[in-house]
Amino acid sequence: MITEHDTRFLDLAARHALRAFGRVEPNPLVGAAIVRDGRLIGLGHHRRFGGAHAERDALEDAARRGEDVRGATMYTTLEPCASPGKQPPCTEAILKSGIARVVFARQDPHPSKGGGAAWLREGGVPCDQSNASALATGISAPFVKRTVTGLPWVIAKWAQTIDGRVATRTGESKWISGDVARRRVHRLRSRVDAVLTGIGTVIADDPMLTPRGVPIIRTAARVVADTDLDIPPDAAMVKTAHEVPTLVACDGELAGSAIMARRRADLERSGVKVVPVLPADNGRGIDLRELLKTLLEEHDIATVLVEAGPGLLGTLFEQDLVDEAVVYIAPMLLGDELAKSAAVGRIAESLTSAKRLNLWRVKSVGGDVELVYRAPRV
Ligand SMILES: NC(=O)c1ccc[n+]([C@@H]2O[C@H](COP(=O)([O-])OP(=O)(O)OC[C@H]3O[C@@H](n4cnc5c(N)ncnc54)[C@H](OP(=O)(O)O)[C@@H]3O)[C@@H](O)[C@H]2O)c1
Repeated sequence: MITEHDTRFLDLAARHALRAFGRVEPNPLVGAAIVRDGRLIGLGHHRRFGGAHAERDALEDAARRGEDVRGATMYTTLEPCASPGKQPPCTEAILKSGIARVVFARQDPHPSKGGGAAWLREGGVPCDQSNASALATGISAPFVKRTVTGLPWVIAKWAQTIDGRVATRTGESKWISGDVARRRVHRLRSRVDAVLTGIGTVIADDPMLTPRGVPIIRTAARVVADTDLDIPPDAAMVKTAHEVPTLVACDGELAGSAIMARRRADLERSGVKVVPVLPADNGRGIDLRELLKTLLEEHDIATVLVEAGPGLLGTLFEQDLVDEAVVYIAPMLLGDELAKSAAVGRIAESLTSAKRLNLWRVKSVGGDVELVYRAPRV
């Protein structure tokens, strides 16, 4: 039976794991805690891609503290792995260690690595699964999604006024959120594989989309959804494409036309990689699911931060392609029905069919509020 005490330690393991965000992907964030007689005797997490798994890290931590783990309970956010990968299987290490019980938050969906819980039970170690800690279950969602669907994890971020507007009627949006919120966005950019925007935002804001003023954990490629390759040759992203990977996704069916071929050649000379994808079924822009699939399969992009306007965001929400939304609400109000709202399209015409997200976290950041939501399926 899972107790409140179990949930508390799963939560602790998850919070510990979060410090590796941006360092382990496409592997999952995993945390582990070892507890005996109600006392924490080992804490570990998966620190970097290819490094020791959280369970081994926690066992090593207990050894460093001179603690005996025999008879203890191990809490881990993901089912211990059952077959060797870059590291020997954790299940084997747990069985050898004398740990008496394992509690894990989420089953490993990996076709060859899963099955650790059954192996532990066969070895005489009781093993319980619990989703009582939403954080412990949720932190491996990006890994689970990628393994199951072949799509990257998509985080949509925007800054809005209290009345839900992301730009004025003339397209002005710099700046809605304050310094602290913007710094947090730069930190997010430094931890994902790609930042995706639409041509509308490029034309309106000419953004760089690079992380600035924060430690760089990984270099995010910039990706622009630009059906007809309209991106200006003097756009900031084009001018810096030799320094920062820059991809422009266009309609593959149009890519053969003379004008597109000329634009493509100009962009490629500037260092931009042009990615032709299928057009959308409804004829509006490119097929965004296909783009996301291509980004993962051909460019190893496992996490995507979307910093776009209402056009691209609307389609992503409409097609259920957003996993997480990071929303900054600034203490200002426009009160103008022609100011731009966060997402446009045919998302829902009634409250019963409205797209619903689960509130994941709320934080006060400077004068703004940061809200993090997750799609209910994850
Ligand atoms: N407050 C904020 O956080 C924030 C963030 C970003 C932007 N903004 C503001 O948003 C405004 C721009 O919004 P926007 O809607 O014009 O630009 P957008 O969402 O950045 O880009 C939309 C464009 O993307 C292209 N696209 C390609 N495939 C698409 C698809 N399947 N679905 C939808 N679009 C697709 C379309 O152009 P083509 O078909 O021509 O390629 C479309 O017009 C600006 O005023 C900017 O300042 C605010």
